[in-house]
Amino acid sequence: MTDFPIFDPPERLLMGPGPSNIHPRVYAALSAPVVGHLDPVFLAVMEEAKALLRATFQTRNELTIAISGTGSAGMETCFVNAVEPGDRVLVCINGVFGMRMREVATRCGAEVDIIEAEWGTAIPTESVAEALSAAEYKVVAVVHAETSTGVLQPLEQISRLVHDHGALFLVDAVTSLGGVELDVDGLEIDLCYSGTQKCLSCPPGLSPVTFSTRAMERLAARQTAVQSWYLDLSLISQYWGESRVYHHTAPISMNYALREALRLVSEEGLEARWSRHLRNQQALVRGLEALGLSLVVDESIRLPALTTVRIPQGIDDANVRGTLLQRFGIEIGGGLGAFQGKAWRVGLMGSTSTERNVTTFLAALQATLAEQGYKGGGAVEAALSA
Ligand SMILES: Cc1ncc(COP(=O)(O)O)c(C=O)c1O
Repeated sequence: MTDFPIFDPPERLLMGPGPSNIHPRVYAALSAPVVGHLDPVFLAVMEEAKALLRATFQTRNELTIAISGTGSAGMETCFVNAVEPGDRVLVCINGVFGMRMREVATRCGAEVDIIEAEWGTAIPTESVAEALSAAEYKVVAVVHAETSTGVLQPLEQISRLVHDHGALFLVDAVTSLGGVELDVDGLEIDLCYSGTQKCLSCPPGLSPVTFSTRAMERLAARQTAVQSWYLDLSLISQYWGESRVYHHTAPISMNYALREALRLVSEEGLEARWSRHLRNQQALVRGLEALGLSLVVDESIRLPALTTVRIPQGIDDANVRGTLLQRFGIEIGGGLGAFQGKAWRVGLMGSTSTERNVTTFLAALQATLAEQGYKGGGAVEAALSA
């Protein structure tokens, strides 16, 4: 006998900064029978996941795998493998995740310099050019999709500067992979990591990473051992490569789920998927504007997967988010850092990005705001006319 009933969580509409809603086919994959981590059936799953990840990252990089752990594990994997104590690293910060990269690089023993831009804006290319002309860096790190602000960072010019300088280009693609264009080879990104729970619509738990040949050469030339045994790619790559040397017991079910989520991406097609994310955000924005709400990020750098909305004067942040969750079953995110209590973060990632979810959310938000005396309407009509 147990005092605890069977666990029966509610079905939420996940419109926060992640996780996003899971596709039924991904849930089905999660419940498939577990096999051993060296079973030929699982090795085939790993090979298929690698091929699908390469297509999604748009890369031919041999070392393209799923790290066991969430997006932060991917971040650590990139830094611990690429950086040796004393290396100079330049980190661009315009939100929470740039700050986290700085912390991780510092813990690797790097000499870290930073470029800061105001939250809600992009990192200016000129600032990167200036920093690179003043010092020699081994690695330059940028967040592609800053989930704390909703900014989509343009990468092309920064990449050119970084390579002219001879550094490795490290990109956080946790909230961009599968939701907005990300061409790892075209942009010559050397180290890139993502997460499963955002635009790939898988549960959290794996972190897809990809390393260029240049990055692999840097790893091979290291003078010191990677200080994290668990995230040492020279060991992990033997398990994901031909020799299949045991390193750790892979999370079998999560890899099934990732493979299925990537099959869904492939069936939809990358470009169709990017357009869907953009189209549904545009409808959301129309609805929010009809309500008289203003957005934090300029349209030219707005991240389609996540929209940051200013909380109007006199509106109780916690009450609105609580009502959306408890009455309507909708989760949205509160503001982080500089935006705490000042903005909401509305995610439309992966399977969550549908016209139906946009209109459901707008209707619920309009009703919730009206209860607090906020005047404004026509959100759903505006979204539908977009
Ligand atoms: C841009 C970005 N980088 C890194 C992370 C860290 O990922 P995780 O929370 O899965 O460890 C997140 C999580 O939200 C993120 O949005």
